[in-house]
Amino acid sequence: MRVLDRFNLDGRVAVIPGGSGAIGSSLAIGLAAAGAKVSVIGRNSDRVEEVVKTVADQGGDALGVTADVTIETDAQRAVDETVASFGQVDIIVNAVGGGAGEVLHHAEAYPQKDWDWIFDLNVRSTLLPTQAAVRAMIEADEGGRVLNISSVRGQLGINAGYSAYVAAKGAVDSLTRQWATEWAKHSITVNAISPTFVDTPQVAMLLDDPDFKAGIINRVPLRRIGETDDLLGAALLFCSDASAFITGQILTIDGGLTATQ
Ligand SMILES: NC(=O)c1ccc[n+]([C@@H]2O[C@H](COP(=O)([O-])OP(=O)(O)OC[C@H]3O[C@@H](n4cnc5c(N)ncnc54)[C@H](OP(=O)(O)O)[C@@H]3O)[C@@H](O)[C@H]2O)c1
Repeated sequence: MRVLDRFNLDGRVAVIPGGSGAIGSSLAIGLAAAGAKVSVIGRNSDRVEEVVKTVADQGGDALGVTADVTIETDAQRAVDETVASFGQVDIIVNAVGGGAGEVLHHAEAYPQKDWDWIFDLNVRSTLLPTQAAVRAMIEADEGGRVLNISSVRGQLGINAGYSAYVAAKGAVDSLTRQWATEWAKHSITVNAISPTFVDTPQVAMLLDDPDFKAGIINRVPLRRIGETDDLLGAALLFCSDASAFITGQILTIDGGLTATQ
C-alpha cells in the first residue's frame, strides 16, 4: 500500500454536525475531497445547502440535513437520514460550538442562563449526535472515527470572562479521553483538535480590533492567526486509517501558543 493511501477516505461516510459553519464547512469540503461522502448538519437549511452545493460542484457526494443536534430526536434523525442515504456512518466530526465571545461574565457572577447556553452549544451538541453515530458504528461493527473540535481553552484559562466556555471545552476534552477508553473495544477511535483563534465570523468582531489582533499574534510563536484550512491535515489524519493506533489525543493547532504556557 502506498503511504498516502492510508489517508484516502473513499467509501467512508462522515457525519458533520456544524458542517455549515466556518470550520465545519472547510472540514466537510476537505473530507469530501479526500473521498468521503459527507452529511452536512445545521439548523439553517440555506447554509447547509450552500455547503452541499460546494461539495457537489467539486465532484463530491454530500447530503444536507437540517436539524438541531441539541435535541435528541433531531440528532438521531440526522444520523438515520445519513444511513438511509449513504448506507453507513464511519466518521463523525463535531463542529458545532463556540459562543465564547458573546457571553463574557466575571467568574464569580457567571449567570446560569448563559452557562447553560454555552454548555448546550458545546457539550450537548457534541454528546447527542456522537451517541447516535456511535450506536450506528457499533451495530455495523466496522470500527469508526470520532473527531471533536475543542479549543485551546479546554486546557488554558484566560482572564476575559470565559468561565463557561473553558469549562465546556474541558468537558469535551474529558469526553474525548473517556469515549476513547470505552469505545476502543469497537475499534472506534476518538480524538480532538484544539485550535486557538481561527479567522472566522465567530471571532471577526474581536479580530477587527487591531490592538486585540496584534496582542494575539504576538503571543503565537508562528506569528499569525489560524485559517480554517490549518485544521485540514490533522482532521484527515484523525478521520482516516493513518491514525489507526491513535486515540484519546487532543492536538492543539495554535501556531505554538500552548508550547509557551
Ligand atoms: N473560530 C474560532 O476561532 C475557534 C477557535 C477554537 C475553537 N473553535 C471551535 O470550533 C468549532 C466551530 O467553530 P466555528 O467558528 O466554525 O463556528 P460557526 O461558524 O458558528 O459554526 C458552527 C456551526 O454549527 C451550527 N450549529 C450551531 N448550533 C447548532 C445546533 N444546535 N444544531 C445543529 N447545528 C448547529 C451552526 O449553524 P446554524 O446556526 O445554522 O445551526 C454553524 O454552522 C466550535 O466548537 C468552536 O468552539 C473555534
